[in-house]
Amino acid sequence: MILLDGKATAAAIKKEIAARVEEMTARGERRPHLTAILVGEDGASKTYVANKEKSCGEVGFDSTVLRLPESTTEEELLGEINRLNRDDSVDGFIIQLPLPKHIDEQKVLNAVDPSKDVDGFHPVNVGKLMLGEPTFISATPYGIMALLEHYNIDTKGKHCVVLGRSNIVGRPIANLLSQKGNPGDCTVTICHSRTPDISKYTLEADIIIAAIGKPEFLKAEMVKEGAVVIDVGITRVPADTPKGYRIAGDVDFAEVAPKCSYITPVPGGVGPMTIISLMRNTFLARSLRTK
Ligand code: GUN
Repeated sequence: MILLDGKATAAAIKKEIAARVEEMTARGERRPHLTAILVGEDGASKTYVANKEKSCGEVGFDSTVLRLPESTTEEELLGEINRLNRDDSVDGFIIQLPLPKHIDEQKVLNAVDPSKDVDGFHPVNVGKLMLGEPTFISATPYGIMALLEHYNIDTKGKHCVVLGRSNIVGRPIANLLSQKGNPGDCTVTICHSRTPDISKYTLEADIIIAAIGKPEFLKAEMVKEGAVVIDVGITRVPADTPKGYRIAGDVDFAEVAPKCSYITPVPGGVGPMTIISLMRNTFLARSLRTK
């Protein structure tokens, strides 16, 4: 079993980006600038945004966090988005999800200028991804593709089973892995909450991408010997720790790992790859604006 070390892979990419930012500033250009909008007080979202801010600092980007109260109206949020769309000092921005219930998430995402949509959530960018055109690939699928590429995992003709059909992970990764190329050329099955007998599919899978948000859902008896397992889950489960919780993946790692050819740990697998992919997209947004 080989551990897919997202932390080390992301660190290597981080170095490359930092070097390119140095070249940029040496040419007299300004640094890439990422802004994150955080609405409300969700603990996990606060942590993610703090991690993104930290990562910006490490690669030499400017970063701003716009913290808005839970009571922010949809109209106010749309106003902030329009302001960022027009702000030439901002190359890319993200709206941390989930948003409070009274705000229509898709309406908000649709308001982002596609050229600043470094999360790749705008319909124009989702459409381009579907067509295999160059675009901002949303961070988690992009990170998974980069990890598979970094470890030279042969995906051609393999059966990949994706657990979860979210717009953020399940559907885009299923699409990317079905496209021509390496990583790619997979036969893809998407399973979700309404799929009866999920084991029937996972037992046939050469590659399993677990993105359902159910802690330790994937058990050893659901996995074929030699499978590649990518764990996207990051759920806080109550535990006797100083913070009162621990982070659990969607995979029962202790059980499943011995059967795998490759597996991602949680933490230290997909998580760091997601953040570095956002940095890649922000660098790309900056580069495209300079042209
Ligand atoms: N919430 C969970 N994942 C993401 C992500 O990749 N981007 C944003 N903006 N919010 C998220």
